[in-house]
Amino acid sequence: MAIVEIRNFSKRYGDFEAVRDFNLDIEEGDIFGFIGPNGAGKTTTIRFLSTLLEPTTGEARICGLDVLKQPLAVRKVIGYMPDMFGVYEGMRVWEYIDFFAAVYGIPKADRKKIIDDVIQLLDLDKKRDTFVEGLSRGMQQRLCLAKTLVHDPKVLILDEPASGLDPRARVFIKELLKALRDMGKTIFISSHILSELADCCNKVGIIERGELLAAGGVRDILSQFSESVRIEIEILSDPGVCENILHTFPEITSVEVFGKMFKVEFNGELTSIPDIHKKLNEGGVEVLWFKDTPPDLEDVFMRVTKGEVA
Ligand SMILES: Nc1ncnc2c1ncn2[C@@H]1O[C@H](COP(=O)(O)OP(=O)(O)OP(=O)(O)O)[C@@H](O)[C@H]1O
Ligand SMILES: [Mg+2]
Repeated sequence: MAIVEIRNFSKRYGDFEAVRDFNLDIEEGDIFGFIGPNGAGKTTTIRFLSTLLEPTTGEARICGLDVLKQPLAVRKVIGYMPDMFGVYEGMRVWEYIDFFAAVYGIPKADRKKIIDDVIQLLDLDKKRDTFVEGLSRGMQQRLCLAKTLVHDPKVLILDEPASGLDPRARVFIKELLKALRDMGKTIFISSHILSELADCCNKVGIIERGELLAAGGVRDILSQFSESVRIEIEILSDPGVCENILHTFPEITSVEVFGKMFKVEFNGELTSIPDIHKKLNEGGVEVLWFKDTPPDLEDVFMRVTKGEVA
């Protein structure tokens, strides 16, 4: 059973169809990147999953719990980070975390350790006694993420956690996501910039103007929507042997030979690329280097979406 299941979700605001009927499954341990331009329907979907929005049609389950029928139970298993940081004047960083821990009903005696743990995880030690309103954007995002972790949720639902951050701060968030995944969390994260997420997600969904255009494993999406992969090979042995082996692959649509260098166009399942390398080795070809340049998720994104801003 998928840890997050969305069935026939759609949302209308009056006459306006913000999200058109879609289904989506996310498995335990996934880092799912929900990608789409401004106005695509990301926040609408996230608010639905976080029990904050009444759908027009559809239902969703998280950890087997019904988002519509069991909202309180759902809130205990999710950590929701909204796209906006609420301003809390006069609260220090540790008090802010303590406040949310209290909201989740964590007894006072347990809260100190939890505060220490999340402060350490988010590297907020130096800001512990700083007033929240004086934090930089990057630090506010970190604090906001810290707050979503206090009740040790299984599923994190993060709405654009990396937006407006500088490159170093984005790297920090990405590393943190991986650490959280390694701690056993499932992560649903939205962004309007694909490259922000491409290297840390194992699954992506691409949404535009309320329509889920594609969803699945990063590799599957790549092979489904991209054209060819370029492979460059340099060998030390007889180029004729190498060329013959390359031509045995029906997925290889073109082979250019430059002495002992080869430029190959490959149109097939990405998972079979290692077979080429293997066959060359087995055929006695001495491969000096073998470099495949996989299609970029960014290319796929540009191709799948129409690029129109709602
Ligand atoms: N309460 C509302 N009333 C009317 N229209 C709304 C409401 N909330 C959202 N919309 C519209 O629904 C569409 C989807 O909005 P949503 O906030 O889900 O997009 P998003 O993908 O999160 O965009 P962004 O990247 O800008 O955050 C937009 O066209 C938005 O204007
Ligand atoms: Mg949004």
